[in-house]
Parts: sequence; C-alpha cells; structure tokens
Amino acid sequence: MNPPHSLRLVERDADGVDLAFRADVLAGLSEPQKAVPARWFYDDAGSQLFEDITQLPEYYPTRAETEILSSRAADIAGLIGKGRAVVEFGSGSSVKTPLLLSAIAPSAYVPLDIAGDFLRASSAVLAGKFPGLAVLPVEADFMRRVELPDEVAGLPKLGFFPGSTIGNMIARTATDLLRSMRETLGEGALLLIGMDLVKDERVLLAAYDDAAGVTAAFNRNLLVRINRELDGDIPLDAFAHEARWNDPFARIEMHLVARRDVSFTVSGQTFDMAAGTSIHTENSHKFTKRSAQMLLAASGWEPRARWTDEARQFSLVLAESRPPRSAP
Ligand code: AVI
Repeated sequence: MNPPHSLRLVERDADGVDLAFRADVLAGLSEPQKAVPARWFYDDAGSQLFEDITQLPEYYPTRAETEILSSRAADIAGLIGKGRAVVEFGSGSSVKTPLLLSAIAPSAYVPLDIAGDFLRASSAVLAGKFPGLAVLPVEADFMRRVELPDEVAGLPKLGFFPGSTIGNMIARTATDLLRSMRETLGEGALLLIGMDLVKDERVLLAAYDDAAGVTAAFNRNLLVRINRELDGDIPLDAFAHEARWNDPFARIEMHLVARRDVSFTVSGQTFDMAAGTSIHTENSHKFTKRSAQMLLAASGWEPRARWTDEARQFSLVLAESRPPRSAP
C-alpha cells in the first residue's frame, strides 16, 4: 500500500533543509504540549515502516477495507454505475485501487499526489494492469481545489479516498479537505471514502502499539529524521512510544514520552522536557455511523450507502455531493 504522502511543494534553504519541516518542528517543540504534525513521518524509512504496519496482524484497517472492496464489489459497482472518471486522492494502493477499477469499469483514472516521482511510478504500474484505461496522473496538492485534465471534463466523477487517512486530520482540516474535494470533482460527484470505526479500546491500542514494535519504530523514526535533517541531538533511548485512546475526541493519539528529564537541541535551539511529558505525533480519529455522517454532511456530502467488513471494524462510505442549502 502506498503511504499517504505529505501534500505540499518542498522549499529548501541553501543547506537543503526543508523549511516547512523546520518551521513545524521548532514551533511544535515550543508549545506547552509538544507536537509535530504526522505528515512528517513519511520520509523513505517512514514510508517503508508504514507499509510494514499495514501487514501487521494487529493492524486491521488495510485488511478490513480490502475485504469490503472485494466482497461488496458488485453492490458498490451497482450504485456507482459505469463510465465515471475515478479521481483518487493520493497515488493509489497497489491492491485497493485495482479492486475498485475492476469492479466499476471507469472511463478514466486520475490519481492526484504532490509526490510526483511516486505518482508517475505507481501510475505506470496501474496503466500496465488496465491497458484500455486512460490513466491521467496530476501532480498537485489536493488540500486545495485541483484543475482536472481536459480529457475528463464533462464526465461524471467518483472521488476515492481510502485508508481512513481522513482520520489523521482534526475536524476543521478534514472539513476543509472534503469541501475542496467537492470543488475539484464538480457537480453530481460521488465520493467513496474509508472511515475507521470506534471499537474496543484494546483492539485499537494493539493496532497502534504492536507486539513486534513496528509502530514504535515508525513513531521514533520521526526523531531520527529530525536529528538527520535538522541537525538535532535528540537521544532516541530517552523516548518511549505510547498509543493512547482519547475518548472525548474518539481518537488514538501517538506520543513520544520522555523516559527521564532530557535536554536536546534542534537547529541550534535548546528544548527541555521533564520525565513523563511527551511529544504528540499523530491523531487517528475513529468514527461511528453518525459521526461519519456528520463530518460528511458538514462538508457538503450526503451519505448514500455504507459497507463494513464482516467483523464491523472498518467502514467504506459512498456519498454524493450536495449543493449548499440554507433551509432545513
Ligand atoms: C495513514 N493512517 C491512516 C494511519 C492510521 O492508521 O492512522 C497511520 C498510522 N499510524 C500508525 N499506524 C498507522
């Protein structure tokens, strides 16, 4: 499965330092509750570790969503109909995207991603698998409205956003993205979106703190990246991976917790942390049928159908773009 790449164009200083990365890290480490945005997980090592996570026995989302796409393909295809242009937000997964494309016989496939090399490589693989299909990759930041290729103008669209990546955003960012998707896709669009479900806390905690320690390595890799790219000296052994369930916000949080009092520098700035305090590195929101519906409705999408896997761990929602209305 492809990692959810950071959605931006990279600006670097004369030393090759990614300016947005440095700004986010320095600002985040200066807050009372230290925090670094989760998008910085995905350097090469982090992307590989995420790929490894998707294969873990405890990490159910990828398997559950793939199960829905294969077992409910006929229902999904019946509601979507033939001939839509599929616009995927992200480079596409090597398993889930082919399942969808084989089920619905689309007229074109348009993957959107800011990571151009990755996008071109995964598009070429997909074009090889579907020789008759127009594959039209667009290198763009899909957090904003994207201009789609002329070839798909006038065709009905289906947006595809699997993986519950929407859950990594706080509500405000998630609604901004879902609204941009409506603008990108235009009138009459449908959206097929993966949304992970609230469930037994123990199952969730295990999924984000696996026995083999892969998620811990994924989380700690952020410190490795900071040390390498931002001239940091953070002692890795001073930090422990922790997954927490935040019930009021219905989300798993990942933290890096200081095992002892620790002091370190990043880009020449010194930071002190007391034992037991943490750097908050990720939110992964989980949804109920209602909360998913609320988030979609708040962004101009009306749910039309919803499927879960057999164990009811994960949901795939088909929603339709609705014009704004002021009256009830
Ligand atoms: C990419 N995203 C949907 C994953 C998730 O489950 O929130 C990222 C992840 N973090 C730890 N494990 C997986």
